[in-house]
Amino acid sequence: MKVLVIGANGNTATRVVRRLAEGSHDPVAMIRNPVHRDKFDKLCVPTVLADLEYPIDHAVQGCDAIIFAAGSGGKTGKDKTVLIDHIGAIRTMVAAQVHGVRRYIMLSSINNDINSQSPIAHYHRAKAHADNHLVGTDLDYTIVCPGGLTDEPGTDLVSVSLKLQGKGMTSRENLAAALVACLDLDLSIGKSFSLLDGDMPTADALSAL
Ligand SMILES: NC(=O)c1ccc[n+]([C@@H]2O[C@H](COP(=O)([O-])OP(=O)(O)OC[C@H]3O[C@@H](n4cnc5c(N)ncnc54)[C@H](OP(=O)(O)O)[C@@H]3O)[C@@H](O)[C@H]2O)c1
Repeated sequence: MKVLVIGANGNTATRVVRRLAEGSHDPVAMIRNPVHRDKFDKLCVPTVLADLEYPIDHAVQGCDAIIFAAGSGGKTGKDKTVLIDHIGAIRTMVAAQVHGVRRYIMLSSINNDINSQSPIAHYHRAKAHADNHLVGTDLDYTIVCPGGLTDEPGTDLVSVSLKLQGKGMTSRENLAAALVACLDLDLSIGKSFSLLDGDMPTADALSAL
């Protein structure tokens, strides 16, 4: 499958692109800043320039699947959380529908809630709105909800649950592996699940969903 990785220059998404490039799928790295092209040229991965605050149809066209791993991050204002994590994400879902991209994998978060009162409620609310929109589409979606992200080495050992509230940490390497694995796992379609570092091999944990 030709897989558009949105937010490709990000810490998790770059790991996703690397894994895809080593495997059987064809990644396309969506970046918003041309200075990041070089990194993907070195991986022999094509890039497309697009910004989630503007139309992205040109990036989506011709793809078979999307992995959304972008985010406004903790250093921008609440306005960007809405513009990118909520509206920007929905923009990609609409583009997927318009251009016939059936498979959509969302990197989300645990504890999302449209009525969140958490210390980062604006984030949890924005992500919840985007996730809810995705569930209401006719796309073949999977929503993967990690805990706090770390740069610990991948262990390929995780814990998954259909319960989306909780506490825990997730290595970006383990997360990237799971996002990529979902592409080839039809039983993950139509599911939302939490993914924390744990003690079960990723393939076994996902197959038990
Ligand atoms: N951090 C956590 O503990 C945590 C926990 C649970 C879930 N998550 C979710 O996981 C996601 C990935 O985390 P991460 O640490 O890997 O992310 P990251 O390194 O912050 O990467 C986010 C990427 O999104 C891109 N981006 C931001 N605004 C954009 C726009 N307008 N158009 C296109 N791309 C845009 C950034 O582009 P540039 O490279 O150009 O800046 C960046 O490459 C987060 O966004 C969050 O939703 C995070």
